[in-house]
Amino acid sequence: MELGWGNETTKLMSHNVGLITSNGPFGNNIMTCEWIMRTSFNPAIVAVSIAKPRATYANIMKTKEFGISFAAYDQNIIASVSGNNSAKIVDKIKILEELGFKFHKAKKINVLMVEGAAVKFECKIIKRIPAGDHVIFLAEILDAESSGKTPLLYHAGKFYTTGEIIQKPSPEGLEKIREIIMKHRKSSA
Ligand SMILES: Cc1cc2nc3c(=O)[nH]c(=O)nc-3n(C[C@H](O)[C@H](O)[C@H](O)COP(=O)(O)O)c2cc1C
Repeated sequence: MELGWGNETTKLMSHNVGLITSNGPFGNNIMTCEWIMRTSFNPAIVAVSIAKPRATYANIMKTKEFGISFAAYDQNIIASVSGNNSAKIVDKIKILEELGFKFHKAKKINVLMVEGAAVKFECKIIKRIPAGDHVIFLAEILDAESSGKTPLLYHAGKFYTTGEIIQKPSPEGLEKIREIIMKHRKSSA
């Protein structure tokens, strides 16, 4: 089946907002990406899903490296500009600089990173996996840092940030759950 953009089911999934930075045939570039997940602690590996028509795809196919700056709560404009324009047509880095955002050089790879992002990963590709109309890049994280800022989140076509903490059940509620878990413990365990 097909589950297109903005579909009623998939739009209820929630993601961090990755800003993929690359530097290749299209120059220094930045692209918004929600389809990102970690896949291994040691070595630290991340999977990123990128469609072939993106300028970012061409850039990272050439250099085999990219940065991920996970946007902070106050960086939704970067996410909109980077997700709705292509480096095939405009220079997004220059646009964002003119809007007042800043970039700095990555430590271990030759790309720019977004200043003030919540979390930053510098990544080197280890495997390319075709996946329908996107391609998954498995990449080792060579450097990771966080600013402590609250992340920007994407849900149902809108940007959010973290909100209310959902409280755990009361001690009595937790005890009841523990009793039920024990009741269903497998005899072989
Ligand atoms: C919130 C948001 C999330 C996105 N997530 C992805 C994604 O996971 N993978 C992808 O290939 N494109 C994704 N896009 C689309 C690209 O960011 C968009 O096509 C961009 O213009 C590509 O830029 P480029 O051609 O300069 O690489 C997303 C766009 C937005 C607004």
